[in-house]
Amino acid sequence: MKFSLVALIVGTAVASKASLEDYQVFESLSVAPTPWVLQGDGKVDADQSFKLRVHLKNRNIAKFQQQVLDVSTPDHPSYGRHLSQLEINNFIAPPKESYDLTLEWLESMGLAGKSTVENDWVILDGTIGDAEKLLQTEYQLFENTETGKTTVRVLEYSIPAALHAYVDIIAPTIKFSTPSPQISTIVKDFEAPDIKFAASSVADVHDGLDVVACNSSITPDCIKALYKFKHFRGSRRNGNEIALAGFLEEYAQHDDLAQFLATYEPTANGSDFKEVLINGGLNLQDSVSGPQSIGEANLDIQYGLALAYPTPSTYYSTGGRPPETTPNEVDNEPYLEFLTYLLKLDKIPQTISISYGDGEWTVPESYAHTVCDLFAQVAARGVSVLVSSGDSGSGSNCNVTDPGTLLYTPAFPASCPFVTAVGATYHVVPEIAVSFSGGGFSNYFPRPSYQDAAVSSYLANHANATFKQYYNQSGRAYPDVSAQGVYFHTILSGSDKLLSGTSASSPAFAGVVALLNCDRISNGLPPFGLLNPWLYSKASSALTDIVGGKGSGCAAQIPGSGFPAVVGWDPVTGLGTPDFKKLRLASTGIES
Ligand SMILES: *[C@@H]1O[C@H](CO)[C@@H](O)[C@H](O)[C@H]1NC(C)=O
Ligand SMILES: *[C@@H]1O[C@H](CO)[C@@H](O)[C@H](O)[C@H]1NC(C)=O
Ligand SMILES: *[C@@H]1O[C@H](CO)[C@@H](O)[C@H](O)[C@H]1NC(C)=O
Ligand SMILES: *[C@@H]1O[C@H](CO)[C@@H](O)[C@H](O)[C@H]1NC(C)=O
Ligand SMILES: *[C@@H]1O[C@H](CO)[C@@H](O)[C@H](O)[C@H]1NC(C)=O
Repeated sequence: MKFSLVALIVGTAVASKASLEDYQVFESLSVAPTPWVLQGDGKVDADQSFKLRVHLKNRNIAKFQQQVLDVSTPDHPSYGRHLSQLEINNFIAPPKESYDLTLEWLESMGLAGKSTVENDWVILDGTIGDAEKLLQTEYQLFENTETGKTTVRVLEYSIPAALHAYVDIIAPTIKFSTPSPQISTIVKDFEAPDIKFAASSVADVHDGLDVVACNSSITPDCIKALYKFKHFRGSRRNGNEIALAGFLEEYAQHDDLAQFLATYEPTANGSDFKEVLINGGLNLQDSVSGPQSIGEANLDIQYGLALAYPTPSTYYSTGGRPPETTPNEVDNEPYLEFLTYLLKLDKIPQTISISYGDGEWTVPESYAHTVCDLFAQVAARGVSVLVSSGDSGSGSNCNVTDPGTLLYTPAFPASCPFVTAVGATYHVVPEIAVSFSGGGFSNYFPRPSYQDAAVSSYLANHANATFKQYYNQSGRAYPDVSAQGVYFHTILSGSDKLLSGTSASSPAFAGVVALLNCDRISNGLPPFGLLNPWLYSKASSALTDIVGGKGSGCAAQIPGSGFPAVVGWDPVTGLGTPDFKKLRLASTGIES
């Protein structure tokens, strides 16, 4: 639904003009978060075009979240009864007075003609000057001293006091961070002779798994054999789809995919992905793939497509900024743009993988909640979203609050209870946790009921008491599951590289989920939607529990920190890695 604002303005005034003139600070920061500093004098051109999104508070959010959990919980009478967007909108749409008042405010500023309403969003498509006038603030140019990237943000802004009860976020304003690809720094050239083609003795080969080769580097064959879906045949025509999300000028190369498939997945030779560009996103085929690319998009599409084959694959490239502005100046909010785009689709791919994340503390709480509510809507539509758990263990720098307060640093959106967070393992017999695998406890989201038993048991029986003070024991705990994440063969600009990170684990797990969804759809069942209630109940024994290895912590500040993998759920490998045969049996009751 997209309405022009002018058409919506009705005669009845709901607030006196005076009450809209009483501005009060809505959000503020004392300083820009590290590593952001003002660039020069920070001046920005007020005529630059700028898109401001105002989100009106939804109604019935707690009830809606419960409904999403119900439709995702096996044995619940509503299991599998996913909602249409119309049903969702009817359920949570903001009250009429919040539209009326917001529109009146824009009208009083002379900005109604530049504004549109899209469901619960009011979008001002104007200039920086317009946004400054509306929010009684001054936008400034900030620079990230680590990456050199610049962004336009404010440290404080105000809106009429009468609106505070109706609005939850206005963006872009005080959120500085942008999600980063979860590829850890280990990217190395693959030296062919010793590893991949090492002759392995017959004894080394279990169920088609080349133990020697897969112990040191990963191909689609390794994943299929290790997770036991080598012989499953999916379908291209039953309506099932998989999608890989990309942000930040990470471009997926068709040529590199072709070479990857010819080399590592010949049965899929010649297949390709569909690309969808959102919010000015691009997918340039320049083989350099983006200014600062480290291969994220190619890793995601190569494994997502190869493992889910023959499931049709889509690459979503969401731009971080509107196309009409000077590159590298006005960043937008990629998750908001991406998720609102998805929710407008009549049909969303049933499985989506996102290999990007951020420190939860770098994301304002209101923003994290709004984005997580959008993930809940995506789940309500019957979509399983897999997200990398992050590449810093329980946090690489725990000194994020006032001096003296040390805390582990969870990752977002992994910490949102409506996504499935995927940690990383390596080695094959047995698989063990890899040190960078991200995990921990949210400070923003309470623990959801589906993981209550598993997490309480971990806290009671396994958590080292010395470190309990450094994390929020009542928070949503993650990851939920894990998958291989070290040395994935990936073709980048025509050469074979080995990439590591939970960035690899998420598309690997998503490939398995896409085939399970395929199996459900072919058997007349609804897709999974939010996986977690199923994973923590019926499917928990269908995952291989990882009990070796340890996630790293902020060793410099808290010696000995980081979570070890233990029996049962743990905050480094979750419930474990997939066993397709068992998961399929738990899903459709079919033996393979
Ligand atoms: C896998 O690699 C590790 C580390 O190199 C080694 O210790 C282990 O023995 C290897 N396992 C197999 C089965 O090759
Ligand atoms: C893949 O397809 C191309 C042509 O589309 C062909 O030249 C090549 O031999 C094929 N490779 C494999 C491994 O099937
Ligand atoms: C944490 O950072 C503050 C400055 O931000 C510093 O004074 C303090 O020593 C640091 N603490 C630790 C344990 O690293
Ligand atoms: C811990 O988590 C709970 C539940 O989400 C939250 O209410 C509380 O504020 C968190 N505590 C801290 C110190 O962040
Ligand atoms: C807890 O951690 C401390 C510090 O690393 C260590 O000395 C102790 O052995 C650990 N306790 C258990 C039960 O693992």
